[in-house]
Amino acid sequence: MTTQVRHTLPATHYYSPEQYAVEQQHLWYEQWVFVGRTEQVTKPGQFLTVDVAGQGVLITRNGEGELRAFYNVCSHRGAVLCDDTRGETKAVFQCPYHAWCYDLDGELVATPRVDKDEVDRSVLGLKPVHVDDWQGFLFLNLSRETPTPLRDSLDGHYDSPLRFEKHQLDRLVTVHRTESVVAANWKILIENYNECLHCPIVHPELVEVVPTYKKGMTGDRSREDGGVALITGGTSYSDDPRARRAVLPGMNDEMAHSIYGSQVFPNMFLDIAGSNVVATRLVPEGPLQTRVLTEYLFMPEDIAEPDFDHQPVVDFCELVAGQDYAVSERVQRGITSRGFAHGVYPEKDDYVHQFNEYYRTVMNEA
Ligand code: FES
Ligand SMILES: [Fe+2]
Repeated sequence: MTTQVRHTLPATHYYSPEQYAVEQQHLWYEQWVFVGRTEQVTKPGQFLTVDVAGQGVLITRNGEGELRAFYNVCSHRGAVLCDDTRGETKAVFQCPYHAWCYDLDGELVATPRVDKDEVDRSVLGLKPVHVDDWQGFLFLNLSRETPTPLRDSLDGHYDSPLRFEKHQLDRLVTVHRTESVVAANWKILIENYNECLHCPIVHPELVEVVPTYKKGMTGDRSREDGGVALITGGTSYSDDPRARRAVLPGMNDEMAHSIYGSQVFPNMFLDIAGSNVVATRLVPEGPLQTRVLTEYLFMPEDIAEPDFDHQPVVDFCELVAGQDYAVSERVQRGITSRGFAHGVYPEKDDYVHQFNEYYRTVMNEA
């Protein structure tokens, strides 16, 4: 019997600056990209600055409390407008160079020592970026055209993230954040996330609590909901056997003692357990490096308990993540070899293949 061999993307896709430049134009600046939580920007003037594949964006709320996003650059001579990653301003964003001021809707409202008739303020406002939220997660779209609405875009996604809406993820609160810089192309991290053939070798602690992973499979074939059982009896990503009191809405008993993983294209990992969610954001910093920002979210009822402790979940997830970063960096070091042109996908690498097919479609390489 001959099996049809499925190839990975070509090796050069993981290190060539030219491929990265094409990804910036066709993918990062055209797709909805996950950038944070709405709880970081809840009132007028509160802001955060984020990076989308090399483009700085300022996100805030205007006087009416509506989300607004702008390129983080001054219209006068192109200075970066705002350095802080998070903060709050009363009414305006003031450029540190010549003190031009922009209001919360991005309008240029003051140009010190430059008279009103010297420049046309009405066309010199901050340049807007599309912003929207889904389940409390903030997304940006840098397209110059009107993009497909965020929820419709998620609806067409290969991993169907809308199935998680029943858990009301917007109710969750972030209690801990971590940040790591990984010397690997962003696609290597996603491909690693989308398969579990490596789990028995790379994640000895994880396979002890999720027996399905011991078989090298990402999912349990006897279940249709995509969940895999935790044998600890717990309700979190942890080897801690305690079940927490608060379980996510829409979860029955089996779901509460399971975990669900989802890769939301292009840059989000959503890991859902009975009582908490881990949201991971990949920020590419060129073809060879990726910043990984992870947020640990819990139920407000759980956080309010006097014995609430998020640390076991954080410690366990960071241990597993560190193991993934090490093998991803190993692939990055190997992939430039003259002895490697592309890899292959066995059957259990189905999700990796799906990601590649989606990528090829978005990049018009299909
Ligand atoms: S560059 Fe911003 S005020 Fe001059
Ligand atoms: Fe892994």
